Amino acid sequence: MNNPLFDALTLGSLRLSNRIVMSPMTRDRAGQGDVPTDLMVEYYRQRASAGLVVTEGVQPSAVGKGYWRTPGIWSQEQIEGWAKVAAAVHAEGGQIVMQIMHCGRVVVPANRGYDAEIIAPSALACPDKVPGPDGIPLPTGTPRALAADELPALAEEFAAAARNARAAGIDGVELHASSGYLINQFLNPASNRRTDEFGGSGASRARFPLMVLKAMADVIGADRVGLRFSPGNPYNGMDVSAPEDTFIPLLQGVEPLGLAYLHVLDMQLKDLDTLAMVRAHCSAPIVANNMLTADSGRALIEAGRAEAISFGRAFIANPDLVARLRTGAPLAKPDYTLLYTGEEKGYVDYPALG
Ligand SMILES: Cc1cc2nc3c(=O)[nH]c(=O)nc-3n(C[C@H](O)[C@H](O)[C@H](O)COP(=O)(O)O)c2cc1C
Repeated sequence: MNNPLFDALTLGSLRLSNRIVMSPMTRDRAGQGDVPTDLMVEYYRQRASAGLVVTEGVQPSAVGKGYWRTPGIWSQEQIEGWAKVAAAVHAEGGQIVMQIMHCGRVVVPANRGYDAEIIAPSALACPDKVPGPDGIPLPTGTPRALAADELPALAEEFAAAARNARAAGIDGVELHASSGYLINQFLNPASNRRTDEFGGSGASRARFPLMVLKAMADVIGADRVGLRFSPGNPYNGMDVSAPEDTFIPLLQGVEPLGLAYLHVLDMQLKDLDTLAMVRAHCSAPIVANNMLTADSGRALIEAGRAEAISFGRAFIANPDLVARLRTGAPLAKPDYTLLYTGEEKGYVDYPALG
């Protein structure tokens, strides 16, 4: 029987030649000024046979940076660096969207290389430590609580990032609303203790994330905007109780926007069928992720629970992952000591088969 993993798919204005998406992965290899390097161009070029490449998390502003050597999309040099990445992926026949990741309170100041403030919905530090410049976990800084009247301008920074991504030739953007970063900090009651209209109920906590999505969609079109989220994910101090109270109102707010796709990092929760919840409250296509295999991913698509699937770690050591899954060839294992260090090693030196 035909394997739907290898069927073409349209997500908004994105045209995928197969349903295997490369999940976003931070690799800490940006150059001076947080500019994409030629090594990054090569890394993404090698993986362009994915139906869709999602870039590593990219900060929309200097204040959005929290980790070591993550790239930005706010300076002219950064835009020019990303233009080379987009051109390389397109030359191989691929499509690429940029993940827009604002760290909010998850900032180790030494990772930035410059002085800038730390912002969050409430003045509560992240309880988890985060790797510093040499990979050793360090405490994060304490954020300043954002005032309500600052939020429209902050949403515009995301819109500007989307505009810059398109100016670089990138096909669309994915808003990072998972893993305890700024958008997730607004959604989650552990980090959002606001008493104004941006805090309190699930619908109120979703207000700023929806403002950001609308601002990005207004600039580049909703058919080029995706959203990544992960109900019940504890990463970076998130409260995992009652994810429906947060995500049903969020999904109801997303529905009228007509986004290109929803990228769901499924925690396989005991008490909640996350993919079914997403489907019940929003009609946007679903890209499912987390611990999938060719077989389990195929089963999700055949059951109508997702339109596409994504792989993270498998793409690190298998640049030709799509060809390997098509032929059933063995998968290489990544060197986990080189995820965030090593420059070309553990990055562009994993060979394709044949
Ligand atoms: C090295 C590494 C970096 C990651 N960076 C990001 C990131 O920047 N943004 C994001 O949304 N997820 C990030 N993730 C999560 C992956 O996108 C993916 O959700 C996770 O690896 C689970 O998928 P898998 O089981 O196919 O690896 C990262 C994962 C890894 C291994």
